[in-house]
Amino acid sequence: MPTFYRKLVAACISDSFKSAIALQEVPLKAPNANEIVIRNCFAGINAGFDTLLCRGEVPYVTLEPPFDLGVEAVGEVVAVGDAVTEFQVGDGVGTTGRGGGYREYQILPAQAATKIREVSPEVLTLMPTGVSALVALEQAGEMTSGETVLVTAAAGGTGHIAVQLALLAGNRVIAVCGSESKANLLRSLPCTQTHPHLRIINYRHEDLDVVLRREYPSGVNLVFDCVGKHTFDTCINHLAIRGRLVVVGFISEYANQLEAVTQPRIYHKLFWKAASVRGFLMPHYAEYFAHARDRLLEWFYNGTIHVIIDPTMFHGIESIPNAVEYLLSGQSCGKVVVRF
Ligand SMILES: NC(=O)c1ccc[n+]([C@@H]2O[C@H](COP(=O)([O-])OP(=O)(O)OC[C@H]3O[C@@H](n4cnc5c(N)ncnc54)[C@H](OP(=O)(O)O)[C@@H]3O)[C@@H](O)[C@H]2O)c1
Repeated sequence: MPTFYRKLVAACISDSFKSAIALQEVPLKAPNANEIVIRNCFAGINAGFDTLLCRGEVPYVTLEPPFDLGVEAVGEVVAVGDAVTEFQVGDGVGTTGRGGGYREYQILPAQAATKIREVSPEVLTLMPTGVSALVALEQAGEMTSGETVLVTAAAGGTGHIAVQLALLAGNRVIAVCGSESKANLLRSLPCTQTHPHLRIINYRHEDLDVVLRREYPSGVNLVFDCVGKHTFDTCINHLAIRGRLVVVGFISEYANQLEAVTQPRIYHKLFWKAASVRGFLMPHYAEYFAHARDRLLEWFYNGTIHVIIDPTMFHGIESIPNAVEYLLSGQSCGKVVVRF
């Protein structure tokens, strides 16, 4: 084990991730009795959450700079405390604690880590990105089968898992994305061959509102919205009777000041259809995590679901600001990952 390692912290509250962060070198201590030391191999980039944290706009946590950044990581155990029985040096582990991602090593209580079969970016993507997609659809969205489900940012890290889960549950899926390469990637998902009810809308070529009006006159039963703004407005207008829209995120506003809108209150849109809008935040659904993770890992290993990793390589802790910027640029396909 080295004596020092590096981590990324938010050194101040600032409008952009890049201007808020600093790289710190800190001593790598030996673990206490119940702790393990993990060498992070891959971490997931959650550019939206990272940016909002650095802007001080995540209201459910109060953080004073400097604070640690990053969330999910997979890596290998490099040391174990004297009382730890469930892990050995060399084991693969996944972690999902806030502050555990953007660092080369982490020390944490053994019960906070999950033993994994392989240390890969795919397994990283399932925990917690895939878990969030599953829990948002099933718990917040009350997903059933035989309904029309619309997913925005459908070729993204979260979206491509949501598309597959909604198809596998037996729904018609409308997948909204912003390029032909993203559309092709969605078409290539193995489950689209066996579950053919997939309508892909590239919003740069087709108008979402027009397509929904023309092809889905009865409306959309469940919307999994990652994007917000005009996409959110259009989806609200097309909710079916008793339709549910789950606000998974609003990435179109993360890099900008929030847009103020003046229009009649939203209950005018919801009431007459008995429709609803529900916010989703994974930490508020923590009790569903373990079961969702286990089901996703099983589906991944038996080939039911496929995980797409963005091919752009980000290596080392210094590359994280560029990875965050890249994700917010809207170009990425699948999960954006940094490799240490
Ligand atoms: N609530 C939770 O617990 C939870 C958990 C995980 C993720 N999330 C949220 O899920 C969303 C997706 O996150 P992700 O990390 O998986 O990202 P991602 O979907 O892999 O990447 C972002 C995608 O959003 C789309 N997008 C649309 N408008 C955009 C804009 N103005 N600027 C940038 N991107 C835009 C782009 O795809 P297209 O152009 O193809 O649309 C882009 O590729 C985010 O809102 C995130 O905060 C929430």
